[in-house]
Amino acid sequence: MTLQNDLLLRTARGELTERVPVWMMRQAGRVLPQYRAVREKAGSFITLAKTPELAAEVTIQPVDAFDVDAAIIFSDILVVPEAMGLPYEMIESRGPVFPDTVRNKADLSRLRVADAESDLGYVLDAIKLTKKELNNRVPLIGFAGAPFTIFCYMTEGKGSKTFSVAKKLLYTDPDFAHALLQQITDSTIAYLQAQIRAGVDLIQLFDSWAGILSPEQYRTFSLPYIKQICDLITDVPVTVFAKGAFFARHEIGQLSCDVVGIDWNMDPHESRQLIPDRVLQGNLDPCVLYADFAQIRAEVKQMLSAFGHQHYIANLGHGIYPDTDPDKARCFVDAVKEFSTL
Ligand code: CP3
Repeated sequence: MTLQNDLLLRTARGELTERVPVWMMRQAGRVLPQYRAVREKAGSFITLAKTPELAAEVTIQPVDAFDVDAAIIFSDILVVPEAMGLPYEMIESRGPVFPDTVRNKADLSRLRVADAESDLGYVLDAIKLTKKELNNRVPLIGFAGAPFTIFCYMTEGKGSKTFSVAKKLLYTDPDFAHALLQQITDSTIAYLQAQIRAGVDLIQLFDSWAGILSPEQYRTFSLPYIKQICDLITDVPVTVFAKGAFFARHEIGQLSCDVVGIDWNMDPHESRQLIPDRVLQGNLDPCVLYADFAQIRAEVKQMLSAFGHQHYIANLGHGIYPDTDPDKARCFVDAVKEFSTL
C-alpha cells in the first residue's frame, strides 16, 4: 500500500524532499479536549491503552487536529516492563508507579523476556486497527523506551528528578544492571519486530533519562543496548532520541540508525557537525508554544534556517506539555509547512 503522504518516511530514509515533515512528540494526549473525552470514557489511561478501538481513535486525533505528517501509536514505554512481569499504575497528576521494583538478581529471576504476541497483543491490535483507519494518510510511528530509561523506572519504581536509586545500582551492582538491561533489550527487540509486522512504518527509541548519565556511564550502560536494537531493526527507519545526551551525539550518529533526535539544549549547527550523515529531528523548546503566535512563527523560522530544509524532521525538543493551547500547536505545524515549502 502506498502512503498518500510519505514525506516523513522519505526524509527519514535520507531522500531529498519538497518540504520539511513535521510531527510533535506526545501529540496524542492531553493537549486535545477530544483526547480527554475518550480518556474519560475509558476510565483510566491503562484501559485506554489496552482498548485497541480507543487507542486507534486517539492516535488519529492529532492527525485530524494538527495535520501532522505522522501518527504515533498511542501507548506508553512502560508496557514493556509490564510484559516482563512488572505491572505499573498510572496515578493521576503523579505519573507512573511500579508497586514492585527490581533491584537485585533475585528480583530479576522473577521476570521474563516479554513475548510480544501474547503479552503485548493489545498494542499490536491497536497498530493494525490504526493502520486500517488511517487508510494510508500518513505513516504510523511505533516506539519503545531505550533500555536504560526503562531500567530507571523498573528499579526506581516511579519518576524522579535524579533517579539516584537507579544510578546507585550502576555503581553498586553493575553485573545486575547489565543483566536487567539485557533482558529489557531482548524484550524490546522482540516487541519492535512485532510492531513492524503489525504495520508501523518507522520506529522511535525514547532514551528520556539519558541526560542523567556521565559520558562514560552512557557508553557503558545505554549505548551498547541501543546499538543492539539498531543493529537488529533493519526493515524500517529508526530514530534515536536521547534527551539530554548532548555529549553522546557523535556516538549516537555512528549507530545504524537513520534519524537522531535533538533537544533544545543542543545547538543545530553543532549537532550537524557532530552528526554529519544522519537526518536530524527536533528541537523547539515546548515552552515556545506558550508564546504568542507571532513569536512561535519567528522561532520556527529560525529553527528551520539553523537546521536547513533537507535531512531534517521538524519536531519539539521533547513532548508537548499538557496545558498547551491546541491552536498554538497548530500554529507550530503550519509555520513549519509555510516556511519550508519549496
Ligand atoms: O503522542 C504520543 O507521544 C504517543 C503516546 C505516548 C505516551 N507516552 C502516552 C502517555 C508516548 C510516546 C509516551 C512515551 C513515554 N512515556 C515516555 C518517553 C517520552 C518522554 O516524554 O520522555 C516516558 C518517559 C513515559 C512514561 C510516562 N508516561 C510518564 C512519565 C507519564 C506521566 C507524565 C506525563 O507525561 O503524563 C506517562 C503518562 C502518559 N503517557 C500520558 C500519556 C497520554 C498521560 C496519562 C493520562 O492521560 O492520564
